[in-house]
Amino acid sequence: MSDGVRPIRVRDLLEKKRRGERIVMLTVYDATMARLLDRAGIDVFLVGDSLGMVIEGHATTLPVTLDAVLHHTQAVTRGTKRAFVVADMPFLSYQVTVVEAVHNAGRLIQEGGAAAVKLEGGRAVLEVVERLVDAGIPVMGHLGLMPQHVHELSGFRMQAKDPRDAGRLLEEARMLEQAGAFAIVLESIPDDVAERVTAELSIPTIGIGAGPHCDGQVLVSYDAFGLTVESLPPFVKQYAQLGEQMVEAAKEYAAEVREGRFPALKRTLSVSAVIDRHK
Ligand code: KIV
Repeated sequence: MSDGVRPIRVRDLLEKKRRGERIVMLTVYDATMARLLDRAGIDVFLVGDSLGMVIEGHATTLPVTLDAVLHHTQAVTRGTKRAFVVADMPFLSYQVTVVEAVHNAGRLIQEGGAAAVKLEGGRAVLEVVERLVDAGIPVMGHLGLMPQHVHELSGFRMQAKDPRDAGRLLEEARMLEQAGAFAIVLESIPDDVAERVTAELSIPTIGIGAGPHCDGQVLVSYDAFGLTVESLPPFVKQYAQLGEQMVEAAKEYAAEVREGRFPALKRTLSVSAVIDRHK
């Protein structure tokens, strides 16, 4: 890069796990946010299909299309110099056939500029993961609460709470690593299950609602910065109240416009005075 910024790569993320350094990931959906969060030194930007909920206002991630993720990925990569950009593969973009999955993931890399894709599932997506990795596309897995399975799971609820489910999740995590995934998101699972998976894998785990033992953490940025208006998942910590600040700023602007205080009067000769002078 001409400005001396070295972009983060898969190898850096694997090295971080080896050195015991935590990986910091946030969801990002546009170029302005990407520029700001790159300045903050966030390691990984996820163009999550959560955009369906926080940007598009849907109740689930299911209506999100590949074109929507592609559009936001292009915006994010335009604003990013350092962070590793991962594009989420939306519902039905990788579940129908392996050929379609490779084609769709390829678009997120080729047209979107992403460095990797993320997809949900274990055993069911192993062939897809292998083919993507063979094609040179790094894959981040996603286990535990998989929002694209919201109906099958009867809602957004914690997973792997009983030993059998926990054992199955661990097995699927191992399979994903074996298939070539470079990292796995673990969402809404008990802390000790995430700890065990993290200890057994040589690739990083990125937790969300999965306790402190993962190799990294991810939050939906709108939740973390206080922009989300709906109720939040219990594991979210809010690091700012930007939503409230925006409401207050908008009220102040509205009041100034309504009272004629914005724009302020300029102390220059008025156009009519200039016209009068040249009569
Ligand atoms: O889409 C998303 O934001 C995600 C995170 C919750 C990991 O998948």
